[in-house]
Amino acid sequence: MSEVVSYNREGSIGVITVNYPPVNALGHAVRSGLLAALEQGQNDAEARAILLVCEGRTFIAGADIREFGKPIQEPLLPTLVNALENSDKPLIAAIHGTALGGGLETALGCHYRVALSNAKVGLPEVKLGLLPGAGGTQRLPRLTGARKALEMITTGEFIGANDALALGILDAVEEGDDIRAVGMAYAQKVIDDKKPVRRVRDMNDKIEADKGSDVFDQFRDELKKRARGLFSPFKCVDAVEAAFNLPFEEGLKRERALFTECMESPQRAGLIHSFFGEREVSKVKGLPKDTPVRDVNTVGIIGAGTMGGGIAMNFANVGIPVTIVEVKQEALDKGLAIIRRNYENSAKKGKLTQEQVEQRMALITPSLTYDDFRDVDLVIEAVFENMAIKKEIFARLDEVCKPGAILASNTSTLDIDEIASATSRPEDVVGMHFFSPANVMKLLENVRGSKTSDEVKATVMAVSRKIGKVGVMVGNCYGFVGNRMLHKRGTEAMSLVDEGATPQQVDKVLTDLGFPMGQFAMSDLAGIDVGYRIREERRKSGEDIPASWMDKLAEQGRLGQKTQAGVYKYEEGSRKPIPDPEVEQLIEQFRKEQGITPREITDQEILERCVYVMVNEGAKILEEGIADRPLDIDIVWIYGYGFPAYRGGPMFWADQEGLDTILSAVKKYQDTVGGEQWEPAALLERLVREGKKFGDL
Ligand code: 3HC
Repeated sequence: MSEVVSYNREGSIGVITVNYPPVNALGHAVRSGLLAALEQGQNDAEARAILLVCEGRTFIAGADIREFGKPIQEPLLPTLVNALENSDKPLIAAIHGTALGGGLETALGCHYRVALSNAKVGLPEVKLGLLPGAGGTQRLPRLTGARKALEMITTGEFIGANDALALGILDAVEEGDDIRAVGMAYAQKVIDDKKPVRRVRDMNDKIEADKGSDVFDQFRDELKKRARGLFSPFKCVDAVEAAFNLPFEEGLKRERALFTECMESPQRAGLIHSFFGEREVSKVKGLPKDTPVRDVNTVGIIGAGTMGGGIAMNFANVGIPVTIVEVKQEALDKGLAIIRRNYENSAKKGKLTQEQVEQRMALITPSLTYDDFRDVDLVIEAVFENMAIKKEIFARLDEVCKPGAILASNTSTLDIDEIASATSRPEDVVGMHFFSPANVMKLLENVRGSKTSDEVKATVMAVSRKIGKVGVMVGNCYGFVGNRMLHKRGTEAMSLVDEGATPQQVDKVLTDLGFPMGQFAMSDLAGIDVGYRIREERRKSGEDIPASWMDKLAEQGRLGQKTQAGVYKYEEGSRKPIPDPEVEQLIEQFRKEQGITPREITDQEILERCVYVMVNEGAKILEEGIADRPLDIDIVWIYGYGFPAYRGGPMFWADQEGLDTILSAVKKYQDTVGGEQWEPAALLERLVREGKKFGDL
């Protein structure tokens, strides 16, 4: 018997137990162990029913994702699930934690399913660029009908046990926390009530009811908007439709063929890289796993603007009291009103109850004095980007805050060490760079200063997790990882327009790559004044920042969405960017002033100049140790800027493009465009010389 799956008998019940931490994934040892245990149960004359139950925190959470992309050894999962379903003794799955993907498919191969009330089930394969490949697309619709199966399979969302019971996915739900006891009791009932073997594949009522329905075409139409650019959601619909058009065995074959297509798609590789990347970033290089973490039970925030307010919501959402300090009562009132409006909007959409809105608001205390920060465990400064003001604030915090309080800045570009130098405790100072809107975006770029202590680093990573963010630890430099790369892209995008492209052409290349919006639509969203102010600051400090047509927009008060005019124009109440002839004229005028004769610019050049420039900068960021691993950069870009997860992030994407292709383009632009952004990164040159990829680092 395999070490990870055991069989024993208790009374008349044969019990198969899976014990393969952390999540009982269906690796080869589990699949072969389950098959052997099933055979033992079949041959055990005393066993009248068989229970399948898991040890640890969860039921089977899916196929073993680590095996994907490698040759998979028999028995394959569909073979196992079919064997379970063919059992001639009633087979009961007892579910706790999460039954996901291949885990739920295994349970659907069993004849009865019982779960604890806090369990969840789902088929999240689509999030990995796949579809359920062990009968899930054929069995689930037999229990739920077409629409619900399509919803679950194309979104990958989990559903709670009680909802799953109502949908017919589960047969019983029990309170409590002892899944083995619950499973045993249910199995005994099956024996006592002489319940028969009941195979999902033989249940055809819902198939007959939905045959010929137009729900499949409706879903395909919906997906064209919801899943733009993605491959597997459409294959999911094809697979579910097969359950309605083909006999069960044929449907399984069709599902397998579609599954194989998805498995071979580059999107699968990108999404699985993102899945593991999201988890890997929590393991910070050089930070021991057992580093002590400080308690963060109260938080202070400076600034009740868009950023400060959004940050406050993150803490209130998880029950942590927040004190927000502003200079003026008016700003405080305005900030709190916006927070309330955001919560009320969630309540209108049914995401929160009115009681929850009030509970969260009650956790946020407005204040006009830093004295209220005396007892807080963490303070996050979220005022605008001005070093002198930030230093003043940190000096004041140093006086007021208790020893051991963490002093964080939400700066998106400025030097954390310089900010820390305003305090007597630089070891407690750190960057916590939230992304706008801070209550929505999942990324938290945590910036270590040269003196930040390990304890503080570990604490901000833990805080990130606690508030539901993906925390990435990065080093200190201008713009850190995300904005440093973004600025390079922004400069190229502006130059491309100077040289002859239109803003909409640049944006389209980026949205075609899979970004939710292009560079210029993003500037309009963030506010044209933001970039303008940064450029002006840098000019004042003596940097050579060339004049730009975007400066003219800012000077004319075209500040973006908030003024209904920026690079694009906007209709009242709409966020849809509309190209504006006035801006075209302004650009033409600018070209004349600069003596530029516009030329035809290809989409390929836009792609190379906007994205290869980021890859080259990413390589420099790695060389300098600002990011520890390529995957840290990938996760920053996926969760902070909407780089399409199915392309795995810029560095993973670069590996697929070919580093030699990228390097030769970088060299070409070094000659034709020039500028330090096109000086090839030494790391990029080395990798190409050695025939390696970022993935090999
Ligand atoms: N295979 C291999 N490893 C897995 C895994 C899987 N299916 N699911 C999770 N893990 C690993 C994680 O990488 C992590 O490893 P680490 O500790 O070394 O970083 C560890 O298990 C714990 O995972 P989380 O940190 O995510 O723990 P949580 O408690 O937050 O979440 C979970 C648990 C809800 C199970 C979450 O991990 C999850 O959503 N897993 C993926 C589930 C999934 O997508 N299943 C479908 C797989 S595809 C499939 O089944 C194909 C089939 O149809 C043929």
